[in-house]
Amino acid sequence: MSDLLETLKRELERFGVENDATTDERPRRMLNITRDTGEFLSVLVRATFATRILEIGTSNGYSTLWLAEAARAIGGAVTTIESADDKVRLALATFARSGLAPFITLIHDDAGRYMLRGDAGAYDVIFLDSERSEYAGWWPQLRGLLRPGGLLVVDNASSHADQMASLVALVNADAAFTSCLVSVGKGEFLAVKSPT
Ligand SMILES: C[S@@+](CC[C@H](N)C(=O)[O-])C[C@H]1O[C@@H](n2cnc3c(N)ncnc32)[C@H](O)[C@@H]1O
Repeated sequence: MSDLLETLKRELERFGVENDATTDERPRRMLNITRDTGEFLSVLVRATFATRILEIGTSNGYSTLWLAEAARAIGGAVTTIESADDKVRLALATFARSGLAPFITLIHDDAGRYMLRGDAGAYDVIFLDSERSEYAGWWPQLRGLLRPGGLLVVDNASSHADQMASLVALVNADAAFTSCLVSVGKGEFLAVKSPT
């Protein structure tokens, strides 16, 4: 990892903690993943050679840095979706400083709307870290965008298990998916799609 990228990650970690501690307004919070979740995502991407990655919920781009750094190492790229104007501005500034901008496509749109126009099987890994009340409604699109053998990773599976329950129930009722809960960070729900 370059010194520049490590410095940027540490800066965003400090900013996220300090910012989120001083506001209760959810839209103004960064709500970043934890560093160990970033490390976990980095290993997952590299181990599965996931060159086509979709992230839903960019915020100021902290988690995207982990995904894009891993994608760059294996010849891949990340598409990340964010609907909030101010977060898009922050994320663009993050990416411009990171050296990873060539490996990131930032989509400024509603994720539900974007996914409806996506190609079936377009992604190897989808990292979902957005508005949890939408997840169950998004399941048909998430399912369709994953390639056979592709992996869905969802943050906050332990910290907000109640809000994740409807998505988890849908995934677990789907014979094409095998899932588990990984105790890293705020809890990561993993579901792999059958290869056939
Ligand atoms: C938990 S934060 C993402 C944190 C980021 N993954 C990280 O760890 O650095 C969730 C983000 O999803 C965005 N969001 C919420 N609803 C959305 C939607 N329907 N489409 C796109 N983005 C959405 C919010 O604006 C917020 O920035």
